[in-house]
Amino acid sequence: MPKPKVFVTRKMPEPIVAMLRGECEVSVWPQDEPPVPRDVLLREAREAQGLYTMLTEKLDAELFDAAPNLKVVSQMAVGYDNIDVREATRRRIPVGYTPGVLTDTTADFAFALLMAAARRIVEGADYIRQGRWQTWIPFELTGQDVHGATLGLIGMGRIGSAVAKRARGFDMRVLYYDVVPNPPAVEGATRVSLDEVLAQSDFVSVHTPLTPETHHIVNARTLKQMKRTAVLINTSRGPTVDAAALYEALKGGTIAYAALDVTEPEPLPADHPLLALPNCTITPHIASASVATRMNMATLAVKNLLAGLNGERLPHCANPEVYE
Ligand code: DGY
Repeated sequence: MPKPKVFVTRKMPEPIVAMLRGECEVSVWPQDEPPVPRDVLLREAREAQGLYTMLTEKLDAELFDAAPNLKVVSQMAVGYDNIDVREATRRRIPVGYTPGVLTDTTADFAFALLMAAARRIVEGADYIRQGRWQTWIPFELTGQDVHGATLGLIGMGRIGSAVAKRARGFDMRVLYYDVVPNPPAVEGATRVSLDEVLAQSDFVSVHTPLTPETHHIVNARTLKQMKRTAVLINTSRGPTVDAAALYEALKGGTIAYAALDVTEPEPLPADHPLLALPNCTITPHIASASVATRMNMATLAVKNLLAGLNGERLPHCANPEVYE
C-alpha cells in the first residue's frame, strides 16, 4: 500500500520529520521565513491526506475544498483560531492540537513578563545601554511590588491556573473571570465578574482562547475600568486586545504598563506605535519557546497526525464531534 502523503508547513527538526517519514511520504516547506505561501499550501493540500500545520496558516473552506483526500489536520499549537474547525467538522476531518505540554512553560513566561513589567527590567537594561547609568538614584526606575499585589486572570483554563499557582508563591491575591463556572484549580483564587477583575487587579493577565466573544475583550472601555497603576499582560492571542485602544491607554496614563507576547497584527511591524512607548514590552510570540516544550509540542502533533492517518481517535482532538 502506498504511504499516505503529508505536508508539513514549516521547517522541523530532523527527528520530528523522521518520525513522520517512517509512516508517510513527507513533503516539508523547507524554511522558517517566509512562511509557506498560500498557493503552495493549496497545491500541497490537493494531494495530502495529512496536514501538519502552524498557527500562522489559515485553514478555511477554500483550503478544505482544495484538499479532497484530507483525513487529518494536526496543528503544533494549543490555540487553533486560525482553523475553521466547523468547516473541518462538516467534512469529518479531525483537527489535532497540543494542549498540556506547553502549560507550565507558557505560565513561566507570563510570569516573567509580569515581573519584567512590574520591576521595569527592560527599561533598566536599556538605561545602561543608552549610557544613562551615572550613579545610584533613590527613586530612579522604581516599579511596583509583585508580592502581595492582586492578580486578575481573564480565563482560568490550564495556563491561567498555572499562572495562578505561581502567583500564590508570591503571596498574591488571585481573582479570575471565566465564562466556565469551574471551581478554581488553585486554592484561594476567587471567581468574580470581569468588571471586578478589571477594577481590583494590579496585574491583569489574559489567558483566554480567541473567539468572537473574546475578540477585543480588552478595549477602550475595559481599559478605563482598570487601575491607573495597572499592568496588562497578554500571552494568549493578539486580537484579544485592541492594540489602538491600548496605545491610547498607555500613552494617556489610563493604565501604567503592558507586557505582550502576542499582538495584532503578527508579526508586529518595527514602526508600530506601541514599540515607541517606554511602558510597553513586547516579545515575538515566544511564551512556549523552550527547547523541551517545542519538541514536546512537535512530537504530540506527530502523534495526532499519525493517529488520524491510521483512522484512530486523535489523542488531542479539537472537534471530537467528528467521532459521533
Ligand atoms: C499556542 O500553542 O497556541 C501558542 O500560542 C504557541 O505556543
